[in-house]
Amino acid sequence: MLESISPAPPDAILGLTEAFKKDTNPDKINLGVGVYQDDTGTTPILEAVKAAEEKLLKEETSKSYLSISGSPQYTQCVQTLLFGDGHEILSSGRAKTAHTPGGTGALRVGADFLNQSLPDASIWVSTPTWANHKGIFSASGFEIKDYPYYDPQTHGIEFGAMKKVLSNIPENDIVLLHVCCHNPTGVDLESEQWKEIAAIAKTQRWIPFLDFAYQGFGASLEEDRRGLLGLLNIDTPLFVANSFSKNVGLYRERTGALTVIAQDAFKADAIFSHIKATIRTNYSNPPAHGGSIVETILNDDTLRQQWTEELTDMRNQIASVRSTLVQKLAEKDIPQDFSFIEKQKGMFSFSGLSDEQVTYLRENKAIYIVKGGRINVAGVTPQNIDYLCESIREAIQQ
Ligand code: LMR
Repeated sequence: MLESISPAPPDAILGLTEAFKKDTNPDKINLGVGVYQDDTGTTPILEAVKAAEEKLLKEETSKSYLSISGSPQYTQCVQTLLFGDGHEILSSGRAKTAHTPGGTGALRVGADFLNQSLPDASIWVSTPTWANHKGIFSASGFEIKDYPYYDPQTHGIEFGAMKKVLSNIPENDIVLLHVCCHNPTGVDLESEQWKEIAAIAKTQRWIPFLDFAYQGFGASLEEDRRGLLGLLNIDTPLFVANSFSKNVGLYRERTGALTVIAQDAFKADAIFSHIKATIRTNYSNPPAHGGSIVETILNDDTLRQQWTEELTDMRNQIASVRSTLVQKLAEKDIPQDFSFIEKQKGMFSFSGLSDEQVTYLRENKAIYIVKGGRINVAGVTPQNIDYLCESIREAIQQ
């Protein structure tokens, strides 16, 4: 069988970067993978990260293993960031956190644990969702089902249809929700809508699994957590996968966490013991460096302040690119309204470009966009914006 095996298709997102790197066109633009770039097209190492690394270089005393769930100081920092300083859940013992290799690692550990514990359950994901969600959950053995989310006509959420489906999902099925900066659409639930979702979860007793990869990229660290906070008292366990790839820029350090919140400390401990067993048979214990950086930044008032400012700068930079993009596209006399791009949150914009237009742009213009039309807004720079807008006009006129 292995002698006649055919090649796997390239990854929907990371495969684009591989193709982009090989492309020799000097005008090429990568709007695929969600990586922040400043207005010079650079993905910088944050100053707070550099300072934390210098501190670590001087002060670190050992490279021995971390425990299965990582350093307790790191997991404490994660919880404080997720729930907010002084939140009652921090001392309740109801939340337990494991340091994982990135948000993807957190999703996979959670998926493996849930599939082992609830082999008959399905996982429900939004239409559309991050291209890797389906891959992760099916690799863990889940059947994947979809709930309505994005309405391409209004560029908003099909909230009525979404609620209808969520209200019929059975007890113990898993529902994956994006806490903020929905990937790929950039369209988030409002506070009132989150309340309705929490009420449905409580009645139906399905299990929310929250993907929280972009805290701080929506409105602020505080505002972005409102969906999570509204789900803390629903009488079923709740799982959260978070990541420091984007908000601390630690992409290649693979730094994330899986948090379980149960109804009481006893249940949280029991679930967590299984999560640890899942980790042990998967990668044993997490890589330390990224977690040490996060821990160093968040436990130092000056570095924390510096990081918060750098995060605010990244968020503002993306918002400003959104406005410029909308304005430049309007100047090109394209018979299509792109003003919705300005209202979307986070790194991505669901541009409304069709798959044919996306293919045209890649094959003829060396502009790399994810199938479905997702654009990494941070990849648009003052140097490439005119070429991009001209090319979009050409693709639309085809
Ligand atoms: C993305 O959606 O582009 C990022 O989350 C990176 C990835 O791993 O796909």
